[in-house]
Amino acid sequence: MSQPKTYSEAIDEIRSRLDILDAVQSRVVLKKRGANYWGCCPFHNEKTPSFCVNPQKGIFKCFGCGEGGDAITFLMKINNQSFSDVIKDLAMQFGIELPKSHSDNQKYTEEKQQIKDLLEKSCEYYHNNLLTLPEAKGALEYLEKRGITRDIIDEYKLGYSKKGYTELQNEFKAIFTPTIFEKAGLTVQTEKGDNIDRFRHRIMIPIKDETNTVIAFGARAIEANQNPKYLNSPDTVLYNKSRTLYGINAAKDSMIKEDYVVIMEGYFDVISAQAAGLKNAVASCGTALTVDHVRLIAKYSKSRRIYLAFDTDSAGLKATQRSTDVIKEAFTGLGNIKMFDRSYSSLSEDKYTCEIRVIAPFDSKDPDEYIREYGIDAYKKYINQAPLLLDFEIEQQLKNYKSDFSPTDKLALVKKIMPLIEEIPNNIVQNEYIKLVSDRINIDEKALIREVNRSKSLQNTIETSYSGIVTKSSNFCEKAQKNLLSLFLADVNKNNINYLSENIKNVKFIDKNLIIIKEAIDKIACQVNNEVEKIIQSLYNQFAEDNELKDIITDLIYIADSFKGLSDNDFKAAVRENKAKIEQYHTDCEKKELASKYKNLNDDDVESMQFQMQLREKIKNKQTIGE
Ligand code: UTP
Ligand code: MN
Repeated sequence: MSQPKTYSEAIDEIRSRLDILDAVQSRVVLKKRGANYWGCCPFHNEKTPSFCVNPQKGIFKCFGCGEGGDAITFLMKINNQSFSDVIKDLAMQFGIELPKSHSDNQKYTEEKQQIKDLLEKSCEYYHNNLLTLPEAKGALEYLEKRGITRDIIDEYKLGYSKKGYTELQNEFKAIFTPTIFEKAGLTVQTEKGDNIDRFRHRIMIPIKDETNTVIAFGARAIEANQNPKYLNSPDTVLYNKSRTLYGINAAKDSMIKEDYVVIMEGYFDVISAQAAGLKNAVASCGTALTVDHVRLIAKYSKSRRIYLAFDTDSAGLKATQRSTDVIKEAFTGLGNIKMFDRSYSSLSEDKYTCEIRVIAPFDSKDPDEYIREYGIDAYKKYINQAPLLLDFEIEQQLKNYKSDFSPTDKLALVKKIMPLIEEIPNNIVQNEYIKLVSDRINIDEKALIREVNRSKSLQNTIETSYSGIVTKSSNFCEKAQKNLLSLFLADVNKNNINYLSENIKNVKFIDKNLIIIKEAIDKIACQVNNEVEKIIQSLYNQFAEDNELKDIITDLIYIADSFKGLSDNDFKAAVRENKAKIEQYHTDCEKKELASKYKNLNDDDVESMQFQMQLREKIKNKQTIGE
């Protein structure tokens, strides 16, 4: 018999040879009755048989304790082994050789390796072009003009792609197939169906992952009329732009050491900053910041101190706002965001889930230009003085104030500042800010306090008017469910996992797939004594055939990264907060349902009036619970 090529083929082979009767009968005495075999359940104590095996279906089920599954699950349970350990034993027993790679099949792994090789070779090739070709002279001069030295070119392996349509392909077509070029993102297909080089007559910037592997390119135009200004690799098996940060390979050590990161806008901002010694600078590659980017950062900066260094023009300010929302979203359920500097610190807890600061040099130059003109030390001063997000946002508004403002102008400005002030969770600090704002724009402090309070009560009525509550929280709820599950994979101590299991038991999950995974994780975790690697492996194995579930699991592993290294207290806080979010969602749903019933009732009807009163009572109770 030929040996299976992939892990899942091997599992199929083992499954087809494994007889559930053989597996069970070595541990349980069975008696045939009709189509089924019966015996005393090995998983709980019993004297009369309620444990049943159906050999045709290949399953077992205990009607006493509810245990059930197929032959492999039986062996896992009875031997207290993980899925892959059971497979290993059976493979040995049947003389089947297990392929080395697990979920990935061999072909896929080989192809990935070839793509890596091609990218690495292309990187060298482009680099050599830049340094040696006469036609790259313009590119070299351009870089020189930008202050990019020969050392930087070498260190960042900057390159040049030629003008021709098949230059790169000609160079490597003897070693790589057209498929590999295409899957590496290095060629595009024309309408006629020809494969042409994606990057032509551009400065090539290799993008590397955390392990220093080239996974993509960013490519800058050289001529003024060349569009787009930057052309980027598409997503590939190696490169997911929403999870990749340019510069992470060089930044990660310093992110750990300095415990903060500076997020910049462009490739050259990062190159200039890092080359000048500010190593912990990164940028997203041709896309807005995503939650996954933020999680990648959290993996390295344990205190999650994030400095945003975007432009201060209106587009840059929008990017700052969007990124802030993304950062807040990424840390939902982990605690508070640091809002105030030291002067208020006795008023709030010292530990924060994250800290967001904004670097905004006075003449709104981007970091690259600023560092080139004034040097890195001047830039570092801005970092040291960078205001927290709230201060930055308020200052940004106050800057618009002019002394000749009419009352209407002032009112318009106040309207923009109010939401920021309302966000402040502490009354004393809130009043400090009210004082500051009313001073600066010359309005009555008491009037501003009244406005803030009025707006607060207005918001409460809006929030209790039910509509929209549920849709708003359903996203949060999905995130909370995922957070809880990923905590299982966050490699923390076993007591924490037990705490998690205990707490998650009665939480009602909503998403169909997450329910399946929740049940699986919960079972597996105790089978493998909470060992993370084993949990992950058996999850993958268990859902080997289901791509949708596998994707979710991959996502969970990724989320888990940002939970790694949490203190025991933070871990427990995360469990509680996410659990509370899900419970809140259920409460909101119930509220909404009650409210809609209430609306549909007929006032004239005595019976329905009684019902209305009951409902009112119920809604009132729900509100006090929900708040
Ligand atoms: P910008 O166009 O804002 O400016 O691009 P920049 O980085 O200062 O560019 P230089 O200094 O003129 O070279 C910021 C980032 O946005 C992405 C790139 O990642 C770039 O670094 N971008 C920009 C694109 O992906 N495509 C574009 O066409 C432009
Ligand atoms: Mn620039």
